[in-house]
Order: sequence, then C-alpha cells, then structure tokens
Amino acid sequence: MSPALRPRRSVLYMPGANARALEKARSLDCDGVIIDLEDAVAPDAKAGARALVAEALAAGGFGHREVVVRVNGADTPWFEDDLAAFAATAATGAGPDAVLIPKVADPETLRVTGRRLDGLGAPVGLKVWAMIETPLAVLKAGEIALAARDPLSRLAVLVLGTNDLSKETGARIVPGRAPMQAWLSLCVLAARAGGVDVLDGVWNGFRDLEGFARECVEAADLGFDGKTLIHPTQIEPCNAAFSPPEKEVDEARMLIEVFDRPENAAKGVLQIEGRMFERMHADIARKTVALAEAIAARN
Ligand code: COA
Ligand code: MG
Repeated sequence: MSPALRPRRSVLYMPGANARALEKARSLDCDGVIIDLEDAVAPDAKAGARALVAEALAAGGFGHREVVVRVNGADTPWFEDDLAAFAATAATGAGPDAVLIPKVADPETLRVTGRRLDGLGAPVGLKVWAMIETPLAVLKAGEIALAARDPLSRLAVLVLGTNDLSKETGARIVPGRAPMQAWLSLCVLAARAGGVDVLDGVWNGFRDLEGFARECVEAADLGFDGKTLIHPTQIEPCNAAFSPPEKEVDEARMLIEVFDRPENAAKGVLQIEGRMFERMHADIARKTVALAEAIAARN
C-alpha cells in the first residue's frame, strides 16, 4: 500500500458514455471506479463522453470511492483535450482523484503528462495512474514505477492491462495464468520498488464468479493491492479476497501488543506458541491492522 493507505481492493471500470453506469457508481461497494474514455468509448462518441463525465464529476456524490478517469493515450487526437478537461475540473475541486494513462511505454510518457498537468494548473492532489499493458512497459516496469520518486510524475498506481498483454504477446489467458505469471510478479516487484500500489487486470467472463474468485485469491497471493473489475457482481468476491481476514487482523493486533510490551523492548525475535516472530512480522502486522482500519473507516 502507498503511504496514504487508501484501500484499492476493487476498482470498477465503466464506459464514460454510459450514464446509467456513472449513476450506479455512486452506490456500489467498490473502493474505486475508473471511468473510461479510451477502449470502452467509440471514436465518434469521445467528445460527448468527455462532457458527460465532466458533468457527472461536477455533480459529485461518489463518497468514499476513489474516482479515476482513463483518458485516451498520449498518441491520440483526444489526449490533450482529455487532460485539459480533467485538470480544469480538478482545479475547481469537482474533478477526479487521478487520471489513468493508457499504454505507458516508459518514464518519459509520465514526465510529459506531468509537465502538461502542471502547465494546465492541475492541483498536486490530482494523481496519475499508469496502464502497464505492452511488452515494453512490462520490460520497463521498474523504471516506470521508480518515476514515482519524482513528484513531477504524480504516479500513484500501476494498473495491469492483461487483455492488451495477451493481444500483444500471443500469451493465452488461461485459468491460473501461468503464461503471464512472470510479468504479473515483475509488476508487483516494480511497484514495491517505486512505492506505488498495483492493481491486477480484469476477468472477462463476468458470469463465472467462481473462476473470478479464484483469480482474485491468486492475485492477492501475488501481492497485488486489488483488482480491476468490469461488472458490479465482481465487487463482493474481490473485496473479500483482498481484505485481511478477521483472524489475521486479531493475530496481528496480538503480535503488535506482544512486541510493544516493555519486557520485550530489547528483543528482536520472540516465540509465540511454537512459532518464530521477528520485528519484521510486527511491521507486517501493523500494515495489516492499518489496512483493516482503513477499510472499516471507509464503511
Ligand atoms: N459499472 C457500473 N454499472 C454496471 C457495469 C459497470 N461496469 N456493468 C454493468 N452495470 C450495471 C448495469 O447498468 C445494470 O444495471 P441496472 O440493471 O440497475 O440498470 C446491471 O449492472 C446489470 O448489468 P448486466 O445487464 O448484467 O450487464 P450489461 O449487459 O448491461 O453490461 C458489460 C455488460 C460488459 C457491457 C458492462 O458490464 C460493461 O460495460 N463493463 C465495463 C466495460 C469497460 O469499461 N471496459 C473497459 C476496460 S476493460
Ligand atoms: Mg488497454
């Protein structure tokens, strides 16, 4: 998790041209929404969708949900107008929390975007999320994530685009995702090195909730902070997979308490009921408790 500790377990995509979906976003139990102006909006509908999204953001009502607009790519005719529209609304407080940039190829894309947002007067609170969805981006995931050290980049989150990765590489999307495992792990590693969050790609077969739930658990095991979603029915199983279980939170609280006892102040390692615990386990426990508390505060 990034320092602000914002739960990002479940982040739902919706087409920017879909007014009904934008309305529903205000009541769904997801941690965030990505309102899409890119792939989910046809070329002729781009300008209309941009206006509709700006209107929805001005109307507000998204509550605890982090609101992100996926703009069109830097190499498209809509990029400049998209950035300008959402930098302007962010400056009035009626904008998104972040813009998601598609097909980020290298850190330079982030520097260009950052300079543009600065030039447009976007407040520093407007963050940038980066799609990792090309072979080059996976190869450069470390460099891209490390760009977060430069405040100019505004980078807060990496988002995997697994459908595009499949299309670009020929790797099939199969249960368990063995063909992509190495790339997924590399992106988690990169995100941690850069101190940003990382979200897994989508599961297309939204009527198959069993398969989806399994993939959520796999993604949580890989270290992802959450998963991007395409349908409201995916929210609940996703939240469940990325929330620390109650038992784990209780154990974490107990471990912190034991390490905090005065008699243990000088100890680096302890045994509790036949298991070894080092101070690093107390650090992990603090993160678990902090995430659980952030989720509880959200509710
Ligand atoms: N966000 C918000 N609401 C959504 C939604 C979404 N992504 N997907 C479906 N819904 C709503 C529908 O509006 C409908 O609401 P209602 O019955 O209260 O009016 C309800 O959920 C059930 O929808 P359903 O009929 O099962 O699905 P659909 O056939 O309308 O839509 C998709 C299926 C795949 C087209 C749709 O889920 C979608 O557009 N997903 C996001 C696609 C996207 O943004 N892709 C880009 C990134 S990968
Ligand atoms: Mg894509």
